[in-house]
Amino acid sequence: MKILLLLGLVGSISCAFRDHANKIYIGAAVSPTYFSDATYQSLAGAQFNFLTPENEMKIDATEPSQGQFNYAQADELVQFAQTNNMKVRGHTLVWHSQVPSWMQSLTGTALEEAMKNHISNVMGRYKGGIYAWDVVNEVFNEDGTLRDSIWTQAMQSGFIATAFQAAREADPNAKLYINDYNIEGVNAKSTGLYNLVQELKTQGVPIDGVGFQAHFTAGSVPTDLQTNLQRFADLGVDVAITELDIGGAGQEAQQATDYATVIQDCLAVSRCVGVTIWGIMDKYSWRASTNPLPFDDNGNAKAAATAIEGALQ
Ligand code: G3I
Repeated sequence: MKILLLLGLVGSISCAFRDHANKIYIGAAVSPTYFSDATYQSLAGAQFNFLTPENEMKIDATEPSQGQFNYAQADELVQFAQTNNMKVRGHTLVWHSQVPSWMQSLTGTALEEAMKNHISNVMGRYKGGIYAWDVVNEVFNEDGTLRDSIWTQAMQSGFIATAFQAAREADPNAKLYINDYNIEGVNAKSTGLYNLVQELKTQGVPIDGVGFQAHFTAGSVPTDLQTNLQRFADLGVDVAITELDIGGAGQEAQQATDYATVIQDCLAVSRCVGVTIWGIMDKYSWRASTNPLPFDDNGNAKAAATAIEGALQ
């Protein structure tokens, strides 16, 4: 009987992540698409104290036709967050992906005006109610140059400063972030971003933070993650892990170690404000076949969940 009880404890957590998140927040990407699963919904509200809409605040979701805004699902998530005493990270205002066709067909000043109007409407709707926004998302190539997109074609690199300025005007209290992937270690891409953030700060562009997505596979967390977070923090911005998931099918122990490492690295940097996990249960992940999340298909805590709880304490 005792052995069975002990076995039952493997992979279990004693209470909720959020009960241990005193120095940093612990968030999850959440989508109402899965709210029909009561286990998912209850884990979202019980375990986490921050929420990022997984898809519901993207451009195609909020402005499917020009000037016609649809906030039904975004509102549902903001309401869910309020009910469960969670803060919200808004994701995302300017991105090369999930751009509705009407917007893709615009060029030059017409696109610039549409971008400003989008930022002002979406941020205005939730003014005062969103802790931070990913103002621009994934604007770099792997070699540290700016990604070619409708935004650069219309405004060159200037779209970034213009977007941040429009964002500050729309909600002066929201923290304004630039967010990207493969920038977690010191490399050509993160150095391109570092140079941009330094330039934006010098120019007085209102940028408050850098989001490190952190889509990893087990065993691949960069050993210089903490060093890299610190060099950005030293520029005078907040940093956050914004989309953490760790592909680890068949590698649960390594996956658990890696989750703990990422949280410890954030805790070691005083300007690292929090860690958001990109989902909750494996089966609803965008990379479900790699079992990248702390809870399994049935919502049971994996070794990763125990490790997250331990690292937060
Ligand atoms: O809602 C439609 C549904 O009506 C339709 O039947 C179905 C058929 O494919 O598609 C559904 O939309 C999908 C949506 O997820 C909701 O499930 C889109 O096709 C699909 O492209 C979309 O994928 C999302 C992806 O971003 C693209 O926007 C993922 O859920 C989401 O996890 C992922 O998140 C991104 C971050 O925003 C940025 N960083 C990388 C990260 C992972 O790719």
